[in-house]
Amino acid sequence: MIELSGVSKTFPGRRGPVHAVDSVDLSVPKGTIHGVVGQSGAGKSTLIRCVNMLERPDAGSVQVSGQELTTLSPAALRTARRHIGMIFQHFNLLSSRTVAGNIALSMELAGIPARPDRIEELAEIVGLHGRLHEHPSRLSGGQKQRVGIARALATNPAVLLADEATSALDPATTDQVLALLRRLNAQLGLTILLITHEMGVVRNICQSASLMENGRLVESGVVADLVGHPGSVLAERLFPLVTEESPDHGWMLDLAITSPLPVGDLSLRHRCEVTLLAGSVEQRGGTRGRVRILVRGVSDREAFLDDLKRVGAVVNHSHGGDSA
Ligand SMILES: Nc1ncnc2c1ncn2[C@@H]1O[C@H](COP(=O)(O)OP(=O)(O)OP(=O)(O)O)[C@@H](O)[C@H]1O
Ligand SMILES: [Mg+2]
Repeated sequence: MIELSGVSKTFPGRRGPVHAVDSVDLSVPKGTIHGVVGQSGAGKSTLIRCVNMLERPDAGSVQVSGQELTTLSPAALRTARRHIGMIFQHFNLLSSRTVAGNIALSMELAGIPARPDRIEELAEIVGLHGRLHEHPSRLSGGQKQRVGIARALATNPAVLLADEATSALDPATTDQVLALLRRLNAQLGLTILLITHEMGVVRNICQSASLMENGRLVESGVVADLVGHPGSVLAERLFPLVTEESPDHGWMLDLAITSPLPVGDLSLRHRCEVTLLAGSVEQRGGTRGRVRILVRGVSDREAFLDDLKRVGAVVNHSHGGDSA
């Protein structure tokens, strides 16, 4: 659906050229949600702006829905952009227009009729029914972002780009907007590429994610797979394991899990004591995460490890000796 290959963008800077995006390859399958995380200045906004050609890459290929965008004429690009919606951190609404007027604007710009019934339908989809005639100044941040989403959906896009779309919102409002994005993904099959500095956003709604540093994607993959990669920085940040102190005896294991870990069952079967020391797990959209367990009194470690494999847990790290 979104296919980037060798995409680069360099800006002239005071102290020489800035390689904002540097040879990025990225593939986001249709109907999935991909998150790009990274520090300020990593190049996230430049990357997402390359996807709809708000920023023209110096090199590389950008394909959306099978169409190469870098070689399109300005007129063809305008048409192609209708299939790519975008939402922003500060909503970018026109304060002089009502909710309905803001939604209509995006249709007017795309040259499609701004039918009142369609505007009403869009307001309904994003949960803004009955607010169509208010001005943005009367709305909360979450409601403003809902207008932003309705406006982005007005041209029936297949792809939605979100640049820090929840960064200006409080945690509860963030959760509501993320729930809306998840629903649009499920109901409309919308493919979503979002960038964020909040790991919680990725944990909450992304099937796959990338970590961006200095213009490059240094890690990329399906979240459930990444957690199973020992040494994955992204997994570490997404599912941090915090323990007060490591116990000085016992066998300590860091596990990546993609289904609930049957701790009781394991301890019964191996007649040992299994203690949960730390865990960071996401349950929405299927279990995934990491846990740290302490195992005491196990007689056959190999059998225990086989059993972990059987229940789908991957050992990222193992530490400590036998003890009773
Ligand atoms: N139009 C521009 N002209 C010159 N330099 C730019 C331009 N846009 C971005 N840059 C530079 O490119 C680099 C990447 O910027 P970008 O805005 O993509 O980062 P970001 O990851 O989105 O950061 P943030 O998290 O703060 O939004 C930065 O060094 C920035 O100063
Ligand atoms: Mg940015």
